[in-house]
Amino acid sequence: MKKQLIAGNWKMNGSLAANEALLQALLAGATSAKCLVAVCVPAPYLAQVQQCVAGSIIDLGAQDVSQHEVGAFTGEVSAAMLRDFGVRYCLVGHSERRQYHGETDAEVATKAQRALAAGITPIVCVGETLAQREAGQTEEVVKRQLAAVIHANGHCISEVVVAYEPVWAIGTGKTASAEQAQQVHAVLRKQLQAATAHADRVHILYGGSMNAANAAELLAQPDIDGGLVGGAALKAPDFLSIIAAAH
Ligand code: 13P
Repeated sequence: MKKQLIAGNWKMNGSLAANEALLQALLAGATSAKCLVAVCVPAPYLAQVQQCVAGSIIDLGAQDVSQHEVGAFTGEVSAAMLRDFGVRYCLVGHSERRQYHGETDAEVATKAQRALAAGITPIVCVGETLAQREAGQTEEVVKRQLAAVIHANGHCISEVVVAYEPVWAIGTGKTASAEQAQQVHAVLRKQLQAATAHADRVHILYGGSMNAANAAELLAQPDIDGGLVGGAALKAPDFLSIIAAAH
């Protein structure tokens, strides 16, 4: 059985001093982790975090990547640049990027391609809004979002990580119940199975108010292969409890 993956998404939080303190606490506490661990950090801190986690159990992740390869795209960061800093994972299509930066399914799919081409594992985020859930559109929305990435990446789809993050559960303290999450994860697994013979290898993470108290139940579901953790990833004891609940 594959190891679960617990990835922290720091979002736009941190400072040199705060990162150092958080990472030292994580490094001290995570030595016996049974799962894979990553932190997805703001781009300016990649060098700092790369150095801090070198040779440890913690892998380095970024939060976004340009859909372009190189050139006149002011402010953008390319996959090759991320690779230069030892980045192993990169979030693509986080709902905050889709919502505040208008990222489309097609752009997200291209970003996943760019990451894969640079040897970086994209963590493809999908999820429905509250209105979509209430309108009974959850399945249709997440399948559409994942289909774009499957279509653009062909057989390489077994190399991605998928994160199911219901938008209504992000930063709200409302978690999808283990049953609700498992239901959607099973839909995503089935969709992956139709695209690759290696769908069982794909990590499907749950994200949205995952915390020390609810992690064990979520992580016990058959199709939940880890977590993508926001707020609780900024507090070492909370993140370490989630890591301890994973296998
Ligand atoms: P919270 O854990 O703060 O709800 O954030 C989830 C998330 O968006 C992780 O990418």
